[in-house]
Amino acid sequence: MNFYILGGSILNDNNELVLVIDFGGQYNQLIARRVRECGVYCEIVPYDYSLAKIKAKNPKGIILTGGPASVYAKDTPQAVDGIFDINVPILGICYGHQIIANALGGTVTHAETGEYGKTSVTLDPSAVIFDTIDKENTCWMSHRDYVSKVPVDFTIIGHTTTGPVTAMSNDKRRIYGVQFHPEVEHTPFGKKMLKNFLFKICEVKGNWSMEAFAESKINEIKKSVGNKKVLCALSGGVDSSVAAVITHKAVGKQLTCIFVDHGLLRKDEGDQVEKVFKDKFDMNFIRINAQERFLNKLHGVSDPEKKRKIIGEEFIRVFEEEANKLGQIDFLVQGTIYPDVVESGTKTSATIKSHHNVGGLPEDMQFSLIEPLRELFKDEVRAVGEKLGIPHDLVWRQPFPGPGLAIRVLGEITEEKLVVTREADAIFREEIAKAGLSEKIWQYFACLPNIKSVGVMGDSRTYCHTIALRAVTSSDAMTSEWARIPYEVLDKISRRIVNEVPGVNRIVYDITSKPPATIEWE
Ligand code: XMP
Repeated sequence: MNFYILGGSILNDNNELVLVIDFGGQYNQLIARRVRECGVYCEIVPYDYSLAKIKAKNPKGIILTGGPASVYAKDTPQAVDGIFDINVPILGICYGHQIIANALGGTVTHAETGEYGKTSVTLDPSAVIFDTIDKENTCWMSHRDYVSKVPVDFTIIGHTTTGPVTAMSNDKRRIYGVQFHPEVEHTPFGKKMLKNFLFKICEVKGNWSMEAFAESKINEIKKSVGNKKVLCALSGGVDSSVAAVITHKAVGKQLTCIFVDHGLLRKDEGDQVEKVFKDKFDMNFIRINAQERFLNKLHGVSDPEKKRKIIGEEFIRVFEEEANKLGQIDFLVQGTIYPDVVESGTKTSATIKSHHNVGGLPEDMQFSLIEPLRELFKDEVRAVGEKLGIPHDLVWRQPFPGPGLAIRVLGEITEEKLVVTREADAIFREEIAKAGLSEKIWQYFACLPNIKSVGVMGDSRTYCHTIALRAVTSSDAMTSEWARIPYEVLDKISRRIVNEVPGVNRIVYDITSKPPATIEWE
């Protein structure tokens, strides 16, 4: 299958771009987010990105990130030759700070004890980068190597009790280095410092906004698509929904969205998705009601991996059958977002990841990809979604797995178990919303662990399903903590579910973090 990715970077009217050069530090995406929060468009590129390519991007500023290596060791990542001579302001952070020192004739030394966590620092407020920032301050450190001698023509503008060169500058060349991490919240003056770098040193205006982004994306898609046809597999999730709406604004009825309802969605979810896209946005929207087809395929299957595989394959078959009915399609919309691109960009190629995202569509389908959200972080996707008029609930929808309730009903799936889970889940969600907790919890849902237990209701013995409630806090779903939902809220949820959902007589709350558990139960 061939894919061609539309468009390069999106710049605002004044072509203001800041480049973040990635040396492998753990906070690098955060640096880019902070820059964008200041209204400046910013891209992350790998450390070996050539000088010619850097120049071609015409950046207004360059940030060299942290990284795990030692600058003086053999074969470690270094800044590309000539980067300090192109007259673009440079800020080095942590490893980036050490790279500047090492490259321009200073000294980087190994320390017996490093500086980790919150550290007191003395800054020089007369330095432009620390303008209006208090002299005695706190910053976040994570390093062992340190700059022991600054390069010629550099001034020391910050130090700690053990670090002689916590910050240095060369105003004439507009090159700055800081050992601490201004991008993390634990450096309280970090945002102000980044603003000083952007507005006082790089002299950008800061016009990057979600409106400007949406407008230029819409124009770009319009130009590229012409009068051809576009297809989108809509899941109702945030990314595919926003991608579909942007594309719709550009090409209107040339876009067809296919929404496969596999019957494993949450209560009323299919109808809500249909209502938004068909009624509110007046899209060409095809809903495939394939509930029975999926249930039949899943009949008698209890192995979690088999269930996933069956659902994945069946999804593609249904999508393929429907797409084939539409005749020649030239473009496919995908909700790829920036973290996917950055991850794939440093490890594999962006095209491989895109292919992977499409998830095994038929080999003989030839599309060009439209990925309107390739440059955006999740919170920016949400902001664009709200600007485009997508309902708040949809924009803030919690992550929901592709296989849906099939991996929340443990073991074999039956219609009866799906109904019980759906009803319990709806009550759980309603009460979390009423308690004002929806946007504080990463994911919360009901599971059916496939056990029955004895209870007593009225004067009778019951033998009914157990419902497990799962709620976690997380920032990326890689790790999570169980959410500390107040007892009164849990109590109300438990009472409501056993009273209102026939077939349930016991509620348990999952108090396991990830690891060792996972967020979903299967
Ligand atoms: P786990 O259960 O592995 O989940 O801790 C991590 C995150 O991924 C979601 N998830 C999936 N999403 N298809 C998806 O699109 C899947 O098969 C799938 N399995 C888990 C899960 O909801 C959580 O946000």
